[in-house]
Amino acid sequence: MTSPDKASQETITGVRVWVPGKLFSFTCTRPTGFRFTAGQFARLGVNNTLVIAGEPDVIWRAYSMVSGPYDEHLEFFSIVVPDGAFTSHLSRLKVGDPIWVDKTNFGFLTTARFESGKHLWLLGSGTGLAPFLSILLDPDTWNKFETIVLVHSARTVEELVYQDQIQQFTGHPLMSELVPNLAERFRYIPVVTREKAPNCLNERITTLLANGELSEVTGLTLDKADSRFMICGNPEMVTDLRNTLKIMGFSPARRNTPGEVAVENYW
Ligand SMILES: Cc1cc2nc3c(=O)[nH]c(=O)nc-3n(C[C@H](O)[C@H](O)[C@H](O)COP(=O)(O)OP(=O)(O)OC[C@H]3O[C@@H](n4cnc5c(N)ncnc54)[C@H](O)[C@@H]3O)c2cc1C
Ligand SMILES: NC(=O)c1ccc[n+]([C@@H]2O[C@H](COP(=O)([O-])OP(=O)(O)OC[C@H]3O[C@@H](n4cnc5c(N)ncnc54)[C@H](OP(=O)(O)O)[C@@H]3O)[C@@H](O)[C@H]2O)c1
Repeated sequence: MTSPDKASQETITGVRVWVPGKLFSFTCTRPTGFRFTAGQFARLGVNNTLVIAGEPDVIWRAYSMVSGPYDEHLEFFSIVVPDGAFTSHLSRLKVGDPIWVDKTNFGFLTTARFESGKHLWLLGSGTGLAPFLSILLDPDTWNKFETIVLVHSARTVEELVYQDQIQQFTGHPLMSELVPNLAERFRYIPVVTREKAPNCLNERITTLLANGELSEVTGLTLDKADSRFMICGNPEMVTDLRNTLKIMGFSPARRNTPGEVAVENYW
């Protein structure tokens, strides 16, 4: 039994399929009193209705919030892992179905990791886009940084999800009111690596950083005083990017050790 002290049963309020059988997003009601910092993740639980052997009655996984800290609902973006214990259940959920949300928030992929900095680079692969959408929706991020660059790398164009929200972000009713000069301060760089795609860069983020292309297309110089990096998604991408940035002179931001790079691995 899942204890109501630790977790709250919420209700799915919307589902959006981006790529059938592969990528989808959903919204659910927000537990009363559930607070989080943009970039954090929740632990979500689904009832093991498929009775997957060896799995508990409620299967739990970490999920980054896509929604902003002030949104009424919670939103999440998910992959469908073939035969994955959690996503086999999650991808079947419909509006009105229950989902468990742990009442505690988790995670350190937040801008609190940085003491200073002017330009924030959000580098995500695949579903690693999720926490960055929440970070963009937090007015505090914009108070802290002058410019924010969102780089999302996907294998194919159809996996470049949330295009409508990102393209229209600078016209977001609340954010455009709260954030001065939002349009000049936000840059979105879509990257597609396994097919030709117009208006996208076509090489891995590691290559684009090392060869100076990201700096060139954004018009931003990369340096220790001003640049801060958050990386999320595929662990190999996280490791390779961290190493690329290390060679360029950037170091991890650790507790008690200021740095320029904060990361989160999804598996
Ligand atoms: C801090 C944190 C935050 C996370 N946030 C998200 C999120 O916002 N959205 C999300 O879809 N997943 C997220 N994940 C991954 C998520 O917790 C589960 O791993 C995922 O739901 C798959 O669960 P599963 O039981 O179906 O498969 P699992 O048994 O958990 O995973 C099986 C395999 O699937 C692959 N895999 C797992 N997750 C992903 C992924 N996201 N993208 C591509 N391949 C994957 C890996 O190869 C993994 O070994 C997060 C993980 C962590 C640690
Ligand atoms: N998306 C799919 O169609 C699909 C299908 C079946 C299984 N899966 C499995 O799902 C997992 C992740 O899938 P995903 O869709 O999120 O794709 P992913 O493999 O994480 O790729 C997403 C983006 O990250 C880039 N990337 C991956 N490794 C990198 C690295 N080391 N350095 C720099 N960039 C890197 C990819 O470039 P590259 O294209 O150059 O790798 C791609 O642009 C994998 O385990 C995969 O086997 C995915």
